[in-house]
Amino acid sequence: MAVAVRGGRGGGGLGSGGVNAGLRSFFSYRVFLSAMFTLLFVATLSAILTTHPSASSQLPSSGDAYMHRTFLAIKSDPLKTRLDLIYKQATDHMTLVNAYAAYARKLKLDISKQLKMFDDLAKNFSDLTTKPGYSFQGQDAVDEEVLRQFEKEVKEKVKVARSMIVESKESYDNQIKIQKLKDTIFAVNEQLGKAKKNGGIASSISAKSIPKSLHCLAMRLVEERIAHPENYTEQEPSPAIEDPSLYHYALFSDNVIAVSVVVRSVVMNAEEPWKHVFHVVTDRMNLAAMKVWFRMRPVEGGAHVEIKAVEDFPFLTSSYVPVLKQLESSYMQNYYYKNQGENGSSGDATNIKFRNPKYMSMLNHLRFYLPELYPKLHKVLFLDDDVVVQKDLTGLWKIDLDGRVNGAVETCFGSFHRYSHYLNFSHPLIRDNFNSKACAWAFGMNIFDLDAWRREKCTDTYHHWQNLNENHSLWKLGTLPPGLITFYSKTKSLDKSWHVLGLGYNPGISMDEIRNAAVIHYNGNMKPWLDIAMNQYKHLWTKYIDGDMEFVQMCNFGL
Ligand SMILES: *[C@@H]1O[C@H](CO)[C@@H](O)[C@H](O)[C@H]1NC(C)=O
Ligand SMILES: *[C@@H]1O[C@H](CO)[C@@H](O)[C@H](O)[C@H]1NC(C)=O
Ligand SMILES: *[C@@H]1O[C@H](CO)[C@@H](O)[C@H](O)[C@H]1NC(C)=O
Ligand SMILES: *[C@@H]1O[C@H](CO)[C@@H](O)[C@H](O)[C@H]1NC(C)=O
Ligand SMILES: *[C@@H]1O[C@H](CO)[C@@H](O)[C@H](O)[C@H]1NC(C)=O
Repeated sequence: MAVAVRGGRGGGGLGSGGVNAGLRSFFSYRVFLSAMFTLLFVATLSAILTTHPSASSQLPSSGDAYMHRTFLAIKSDPLKTRLDLIYKQATDHMTLVNAYAAYARKLKLDISKQLKMFDDLAKNFSDLTTKPGYSFQGQDAVDEEVLRQFEKEVKEKVKVARSMIVESKESYDNQIKIQKLKDTIFAVNEQLGKAKKNGGIASSISAKSIPKSLHCLAMRLVEERIAHPENYTEQEPSPAIEDPSLYHYALFSDNVIAVSVVVRSVVMNAEEPWKHVFHVVTDRMNLAAMKVWFRMRPVEGGAHVEIKAVEDFPFLTSSYVPVLKQLESSYMQNYYYKNQGENGSSGDATNIKFRNPKYMSMLNHLRFYLPELYPKLHKVLFLDDDVVVQKDLTGLWKIDLDGRVNGAVETCFGSFHRYSHYLNFSHPLIRDNFNSKACAWAFGMNIFDLDAWRREKCTDTYHHWQNLNENHSLWKLGTLPPGLITFYSKTKSLDKSWHVLGLGYNPGISMDEIRNAAVIHYNGNMKPWLDIAMNQYKHLWTKYIDGDMEFVQMCNFGL
């Protein structure tokens, strides 16, 4: 591999005149602005790449398959091995370029130029790998000349990617004046006082301020993989992953640091950590970062971690999953992506939240597919990525759910947080099927009996209602309303000390209650990884951050 790669530290730009000319030419190129496009594009590209290189087309298109293929290739044909490596290099850089593009998109006000550059580069990568001349598929032998030409072009693109990243790194790594932002939010809060608008403004601000640190971390991790590919080959999965006698956790997130905190907090409080198995599912963009993290910082105590991307589950197609179908329909695309932010972000709270694609994202709705994701398992504990575990949780697996599917803590008090709060009881379908006074419960720490789920066909129930809600007349947004519907009368109430909520918005939770909780949950906008987190709760999260991890220090997590 002749390409110069920096290991994510220090300086050493590549910015030569030729590269600058390359950068300039980006501006004249067609621009793809929508996040939709990038996501589809990454998925497409990885499909191309995973099915491409060698003879074994019947292998599943997962990371393990890649390993497998590489192995076959080594045995069979050195040119194919090289081809494989070139493809791998192209995908790694794709990931990185897309990470930057996503980040640029988030801060689109200041750096829309960079967004264009990264999107253009991503497009070029795609063009390159799909170019007809470079279709090696189904060929027995690789033409060495063509391969060489292909390699040359990949390397050129990689070089441009590296130099763009070096040039824009500064603006990503520098800390902004967070304190000022925080003051603004509190000032606004004081003025407006009441909850609804408040939430909207806070969420729009925090959504913009998110995650310099988070993106910095993800990018460092991907860069690490590019710098030391030999350290990050795929490993055989442990048989523990499917062993139903162990304690299994499902954790769906695109946030590396949050996942790491959840896993560490479970393990550090577990009496027998080697019996705990974490199933992390993330998006295509964060898959590499997540894997590198857990390779660099393996979990302690013999616990097990499996990391997959949504795309690794082939049954999740838009013909099966209503949410994906709805996302694909042009109406929704327009709704979410057109003219967004043209006129500032002064909409009301619901509007901002409703238009956030995250609320429709597959990662959020994965929780409705647990029995299919983990066909061999009987019970799974679902955890949100904004929780911290403070006790050994194995007691949850021993609770008798009385044949119910979902064990959860209830959140209603007085007339608040009843079903009427989440569902449209003016609608006859809702009115005729549910009791408006039924007590709501919380997602975030739920013990699911997967056998009962299969028996009760809860996934079908969910599909039925999610389809009915295509035009949002039954409920507005999120996963809780369809959850309340799906597990209506199939939920067992757990003792409240299992799961204490509100650390992301409620400044008045009793410290005793928090101390006694098995799981605390930072639901709300003031996530502990944001600088707007509430100080009185933040340390309960930061104490589980892996402070010895070099990238955590580099990315200014403010510890
Ligand atoms: C991207 O592709 C276009 C068209 O092939 C080309 O003009 C441009 O220089 C390419 N950019 C890079 C960085 O390769
Ligand atoms: C990874 O690669 C680097 C450089 O090639 C090497 O020093 C290191 O020991 C390798 N292994 C790990 C686990 O980092
Ligand atoms: C933006 O707002 C201004 C006035 O507030 C209005 O005149 C203009 O039409 C709006 N633009 C769009 C694209 O909605
Ligand atoms: C919403 O969809 C249902 C059926 O899918 C339809 O009967 C109803 O008229 C729609 N409502 C609106 C406001 O479009
Ligand atoms: C609730 O349902 C009624 C009856 O279908 C409908 O007219 C109304 O628009 C719905 N409300 C919302 C907020 O969608």
